[in-house]
Amino acid sequence: MMDWTDRHCRYFMRLLTPHALLYTEMVTAAAIVHGDSHRFLRFNEEEHPVALQLGGSDPDWMAQATAQAARHGYDEININVGCPSDRVQSGQFGACLMAHPEQVAECYAAMQKETEVPVSVKSRIGIDDRDDYAFLRHFVEIVAAAGCRKFVVHARVAILEGLSPKENRAVPPLRYGHVYRLKADFPELEIVINGGLTRVEQVDEALAHVDGVMIGRQAYHAPYFLAELAAHLDPAWSMPSRGDVVERMLGYVDRELARGASLASITRHMLGLFAGRPGARAWRRYISEHAHREGAASEVLVNAINAMPAAA
Ligand SMILES: Cc1cc2nc3c(=O)[nH]c(=O)nc-3n(C[C@H](O)[C@H](O)[C@H](O)COP(=O)(O)O)c2cc1C
Repeated sequence: MMDWTDRHCRYFMRLLTPHALLYTEMVTAAAIVHGDSHRFLRFNEEEHPVALQLGGSDPDWMAQATAQAARHGYDEININVGCPSDRVQSGQFGACLMAHPEQVAECYAAMQKETEVPVSVKSRIGIDDRDDYAFLRHFVEIVAAAGCRKFVVHARVAILEGLSPKENRAVPPLRYGHVYRLKADFPELEIVINGGLTRVEQVDEALAHVDGVMIGRQAYHAPYFLAELAAHLDPAWSMPSRGDVVERMLGYVDRELARGASLASITRHMLGLFAGRPGARAWRRYISEHAHREGAASEVLVNAINAMPAAA
């Protein structure tokens, strides 16, 4: 998720979920091919398994970006066919590519030639007034014919004009049925559902129909949900407490600060850790007020815990 799932965020999330595949923010193929690729591609070894999401529609550029990403050791490369923003549309990639499955198939084929790791596609169920199942099925059929085996589907259409990206994550209705039908029609494909999943029971229900779930906003706003989900799916896992997670972040924070990162760039991803718990507000407030201060370091996190009434 853009501006959210950077490497600091992913390091933190890995402490909350041992096996879930973590996704980067979308990076454009152009930024990797023509920009400072190391800045966009570097990640912490602890993050594995981690997928890079690429935005673009030019098969050559997508292939070159994939080759560089493969050298960095990503576990999966994902093509963004779901973003509705104007910026992305003017570059003719993202969700508007759902109308051009052959082009996505061409990108897929060029990319998969460059790497052993799977290249997957993340799409919507449709665009604008094409919210019929036949449209989605046709898209998947064409891309799968090129060899693609994994599809992550955000279960709502993208409206390409008139809605902001934020509205496009809320206004079009969720249609899980389309995604379930896809799995029934293409049992050999790995189908992952996304959109509006915030509770363990919803995940159980979805997993009765498809191979996996992708959690977006809930993972960011209430990250401990990831730990609850991981413990639910693997009861043998020894689930860390929120306090354990904070403690495990301290060493990371110290290392990153020594390398020049700012404290707030790391702690901003941790604000939701106590969401829904007593003291959540004190935690957020303490960090928000102190992380930007000159010389602020990892003890801000320790002090933030101590500032929570529940810890008193
Ligand atoms: C701040 C933000 C940034 C996002 N950036 C991306 C992105 O870079 N690539 C992408 O495929 N989806 C992106 N999304 C969409 C999410 O991946 C997800 O499809 C959507 O939020 C619906 O899932 P959810 O209800 O679990 O959040 C973003 C969502 C948010 C809130």
